[in-house]
Amino acid sequence: MNSSKEIDIKDLEPVNLPAHVAIIMDGNGRWAKKRLMNRITGHEKGSDTVREIVKASREIGIKVLTLYAFSTENWQRPKTEVSALMTLLERFLIKERNEMLDNNIRLNAIGQLERLPKKVFTALQESINLTEKNDKMILNLALSYGGREEIVRMTREISQMVKSGSINENSITPELVSQHLYTGGMPDPDILIRPGGEMRISNFLLWQISYAEIFVTDTLWPDFSREEYIKILKDYQSRERRFGKVE
Ligand code: IPE
Ligand code: IPE
Ligand code: MG
Repeated sequence: MNSSKEIDIKDLEPVNLPAHVAIIMDGNGRWAKKRLMNRITGHEKGSDTVREIVKASREIGIKVLTLYAFSTENWQRPKTEVSALMTLLERFLIKERNEMLDNNIRLNAIGQLERLPKKVFTALQESINLTEKNDKMILNLALSYGGREEIVRMTREISQMVKSGSINENSITPELVSQHLYTGGMPDPDILIRPGGEMRISNFLLWQISYAEIFVTDTLWPDFSREEYIKILKDYQSRERRFGKVE
């Protein structure tokens, strides 16, 4: 049956794994449209992929997995789509609790969480609290997240510190800026993966991806698989990251 050599985790070098993987989960709508289905069915199918990729990431030994699930701009979608996405999110947060507990995964969320419907916010807070002692992997969900909003928020916080005299302007360093972003304390993403084929960033982690290795695949998110993920990671391991230097 399994005659063709399938790539698997053992094909990855255990050293040289990305510590932080960031994914723009795109293409659910097109996946559904191709099948003459409602966009919401695409989102439902997409949430199965989330489960599979979280599981694979944990097995591979990724330390932080950031998934772009809902952008600040996505609030402008039709009400029915936004509310279906919120229901799916709430369901995911509750359903995956045991999986996260069994696999030592800590949940975290970044973005304007106060804009989430109360039910979703509560489910999120409960899952975050329940998993807070877990330390094998952080599942970091970008929800109601926008990179520009994050930078504005950081700027306000730091301005306030300067104004109150707790720091002076010379203390503003790249490290301080990083600390005051939602991702403060996390390493920057080593790799950014975008399924769905669009060659754009869509307001995701603008500061943090300065040296991320970028992979865009035409595969739509509901069709994205563990196998393709591992292939991308393998490809990542063959890239030379120069960080502006030579050799
Ligand atoms: C990504 O899929 C999910 C969200 C942005 C919430 P899309 O809904 O953007 O799917 P396409 O890009 O229309 O195919
Ligand atoms: C980016 O996808 C946001 C998420 C995946 C959550 P979009 O579908 O919203 O991005 P654009 O509109 O193609 O830039
Ligand atoms: Mg899209």
